[in-house]
Amino acid sequence: MRLLFLGDIVGRPGREAVRDAIPRFVEKHQPDFLVANAENAAGGVGLTPELAMELFSLGLDVLTLGNHAFSKKEITSILDSELRVIRPLNFPPGVPGRGYTVVERNGVRLGVVNLLGRVFSEVHLDCPFRAADAALSALVTKADFVIVDFHADATSEKAALGFYLDGRAGAVIGTHTHVQTADERILPKGTAFITDAGMCGPVDSVIGMRPADSIQRFLTQIPERLEVAGGKAMVQGVLVDWNDAGRPTNIERVAMRP
Ligand SMILES: [Fe+2]
Ligand SMILES: [Fe+2]
Repeated sequence: MRLLFLGDIVGRPGREAVRDAIPRFVEKHQPDFLVANAENAAGGVGLTPELAMELFSLGLDVLTLGNHAFSKKEITSILDSELRVIRPLNFPPGVPGRGYTVVERNGVRLGVVNLLGRVFSEVHLDCPFRAADAALSALVTKADFVIVDFHADATSEKAALGFYLDGRAGAVIGTHTHVQTADERILPKGTAFITDAGMCGPVDSVIGMRPADSIQRFLTQIPERLEVAGGKAMVQGVLVDWNDAGRPTNIERVAMRP
């Protein structure tokens, strides 16, 4: 079985690049499941119900979120009913939506867990490590293969969660930095891991946003709004393969440049 996971989709350029890339990826790699992080899909921050449906129409099976999960308030209207959109599990109890889900294809059940890191985080969250334990326990009889989208800033926190879940999760895939890392590998006890899957968004940008806006923010320290950059967009992600026993056999980076 094969999963294609795409890093954070940023704004319209990212959505259009994903729309163009998916048929080509599907033809070339024939993934059984397609999952993407969509926390930046709507104007660079958040996700709306309409854009979630647009992304599902492209063939995506599950959309994960992150620190921008609730940046577009409209999303809360579908988080309790739409099982294919998940937000980080370690938000406080009572927050709308769910932090993990299961999708099935050809009799194989893929579990997807979304967690948010705490290092450099502006929101105070429950422990992602303990939340991961709870999710894996809940999914043990419900899924044949479980991937974790760990949406976090610090490489150390991501690597630590990878090793913490090594041999228990099928894959731990980092998101949030929008920069694809070159450390994809199978960890000693068998979990597929990458620190960050990268971004689907504008190439000439500061993590998806207009460079001039970002530079101005750094120069003035005034939190001006950042606009999604224009120009051509790239698509980045990873392929994860596993065998009939549910053991990961390969993880590799994929990228499509304009
Ligand atoms: Fe992001
Ligand atoms: Fe993020």
